[in-house]
Amino acid sequence: MSDFAELTFDGKQYKFPVITGTENEKAIDIAKLRDETGYITIDSGYKNTGATKSAITFLDGEEGILRYRGYSIEELAEKASFLEVAYLLIYGELPTSEQYAAFEDDIKMHTIVNEDMRKIFEGFPVNAHPMGVLSALVCAMSAFYTGEKAGSDDLNIIRLLAKMPSMATWSYKKSQGHPVNYPNNSLDYCSNFLNMMFALPVAAYQVDPVVSAALNKLLILHADHEQNCSTSTVRLVGSSQASLYASISAGINALSGPLHGGANQEVIEMLEDIKADGGDTDKYIAMAKDKNSGFRLMGFGHRVYKNFDPRARIIKKAADDVLSKLGVNDPVLEIAKKLEEAALNDEYFVARKLYPNVDFYSGIIYRALGIPTNMFTVMFAIGRLPGWIAQWKEMRANKEPIGRPRQVYVGATAREYVDVANRK
Ligand code: MLT
Repeated sequence: MSDFAELTFDGKQYKFPVITGTENEKAIDIAKLRDETGYITIDSGYKNTGATKSAITFLDGEEGILRYRGYSIEELAEKASFLEVAYLLIYGELPTSEQYAAFEDDIKMHTIVNEDMRKIFEGFPVNAHPMGVLSALVCAMSAFYTGEKAGSDDLNIIRLLAKMPSMATWSYKKSQGHPVNYPNNSLDYCSNFLNMMFALPVAAYQVDPVVSAALNKLLILHADHEQNCSTSTVRLVGSSQASLYASISAGINALSGPLHGGANQEVIEMLEDIKADGGDTDKYIAMAKDKNSGFRLMGFGHRVYKNFDPRARIIKKAADDVLSKLGVNDPVLEIAKKLEEAALNDEYFVARKLYPNVDFYSGIIYRALGIPTNMFTVMFAIGRLPGWIAQWKEMRANKEPIGRPRQVYVGATAREYVDVANRK
């Protein structure tokens, strides 16, 4: 295999180095392309373009492999805690017991949120989407936790991990007309979130270990996914030396889109619509194939996975497990399984690589855990936070330049100004 690529055009030959990653991925380094040839490349949506070299997450779209710092998500989802995985992603190694205890204590020390941030929150209407509220509050952290009280990036990393779950619950409590709960540092990370979400001052609230364990698994499965849209946003915003809070807030906004993290909310709404319409999955499979139907099967297919999304396989098994443990019989799960069965055996979907992705089953578990639909993408953001942080930290540590893509101009060529009186 050669260690350079040759390009020949305009009668000239050019050579560009080929780099090889630790998993034998190949890339043509075109850093000198424009200087040497005057040409740029163009790749709408960057499907063939690497933005960086990263040591955080490896995924193989053909083989359905996903590893965080070399550990498979199957093992991590089964054996690790979400905070262990957060530490692994951010600092590069699984923590020793001392490191883990210190990390957990640091986070517990910072779970409380400045009371003046609640005044910002109170200004939002009750029906504001929780993702918009969350991105605004995270951005507001720049005002409360940097500047003259500037903390180091490591302190701001702890503050984000500690405070985002607390702030995420405020929208839900407001939507219920219930008082917000303060964090309870005697609980683990996932149990603390559930307690802040569902505890009421009128009675003691006991976190169900089945629910907490399911949440732990879901957050791990969402923790990172190399250079996806929201992570690329975090890196791009951070490359201008914008603060960690501003970068993460931008990532939350990118994730909110229905083509990205918003898909898990779209999936459940689609499944509920099918259920409300009698649950005839064959009808909707036919509609999905009919371009004129205007119906799109949400939660199927993926930009990088060609055969299956490994996270969907784990979540599907967990959905069965959690619902049976909780004694939940959700007809929407049966509809989801019928859709999946049909899609996996129908040539139309097989040919188009349309199989369940991470969003297809996650909403069913979140629903079983009592999480409302409009909070599903917030759950994705809480899971993805350590991945965003890790990627931002790596970009800064590697002193990567400000991101500034090029373009090919296709607009009007040079022309003179015409006075308004003479315009036709
Ligand atoms: C993600 O986990 O970010 C989604 O699967 C989207 C992606 O990776 O492009």
